[in-house]
Amino acid sequence: MQYAQLNDARQMPMLGLGTYTLTGARGERIMLEALELGYRLLDTARMYGNEREVGRAVSKSGLSRGEIFVTSKLNAPCASYAGAKGCILQSLETLQMDYVDLMLVHEPYEGAEDMYAALEEAQARGLAKSIGISNFGLGRCTGFYDRVNILPAVNQLENHLRFQQEELVGWLSQRGTVVQAWSPFGAGRGNILSDPVLVETGRRHGKTAAQVALRFLVQRGIAVIPKASSRDRLRQNMEIFDFELNGEEMRTLRAMDRGHSLFSWSWI
Ligand SMILES: NC(=O)c1ccc[n+]([C@@H]2O[C@H](COP(=O)([O-])OP(=O)(O)OC[C@H]3O[C@@H](n4cnc5c(N)ncnc54)[C@H](OP(=O)(O)O)[C@@H]3O)[C@@H](O)[C@H]2O)c1
Repeated sequence: MQYAQLNDARQMPMLGLGTYTLTGARGERIMLEALELGYRLLDTARMYGNEREVGRAVSKSGLSRGEIFVTSKLNAPCASYAGAKGCILQSLETLQMDYVDLMLVHEPYEGAEDMYAALEEAQARGLAKSIGISNFGLGRCTGFYDRVNILPAVNQLENHLRFQQEELVGWLSQRGTVVQAWSPFGAGRGNILSDPVLVETGRRHGKTAAQVALRFLVQRGIAVIPKASSRDRLRQNMEIFDFELNGEEMRTLRAMDRGHSLFSWSWI
């Protein structure tokens, strides 16, 4: 496993399991399987309704709490200072944990600065070891970065071959914020995994298109949280640290960018 260095001196695994739609006994089993295979980061959110399953999988894994990086996110009902404070405690209760490794403001809500003030306090109290944001584009980031006391450690964003967001990624990197890519396969949109360029690049390295899609991101310093349901795919998505794309391959893959989101509800 490789790790990203965060601006608060902590480290975050470059690869984790996205858990959106992994709910109930099936979801918990898949999370547990991922931990058995060597995953050390689980990405959940209040919005996903599966914090309880994440807590159970961590507890059943037999791993110590310190070995696993757990991320959660505050959603719209928490969009005030008092709301966020209550939501953080509620999430910890549901997760059955004393702390989360990373708590994010899920979207650039109007009350995001107030929510973030609650996150800064939670970090000081050890309830959230690292804090950050998600889905904040350049327009929203600039004012936000001027107003907060602690710069976000992470901005979790839509990022994949069809929407590479180079300008935003560069801006965040200059300020020490790590980008973590959600939907690194575009969640099936944009025909990413069937693109002949990707398939051919994978063939040259003895890898699948999915592995190349993830490798492209981690090689740019972007952390990834693909979601997968089968043992084979979970394993496949982990095996991305034993090969390297050369300069020409990276340039060719950069040309797959369409420059816009694949999701109609995107905030960016
Ligand atoms: N912050 C936010 O606003 C936000 C928004 C969206 C998502 N997220 C996070 O990002 C995570 C990942 O995003 P996502 O779930 O939307 O999409 P994704 O990871 O881009 O794609 C998941 C899809 O790819 C398939 N897949 C997984 N591994 C594969 C492989 N090796 N070969 C072929 N297909 C493969 C999965 O199928 P199977 O499941 O059938 O194996 C699933 O249908 C979410 O789970 C969530 O944690 C955050």
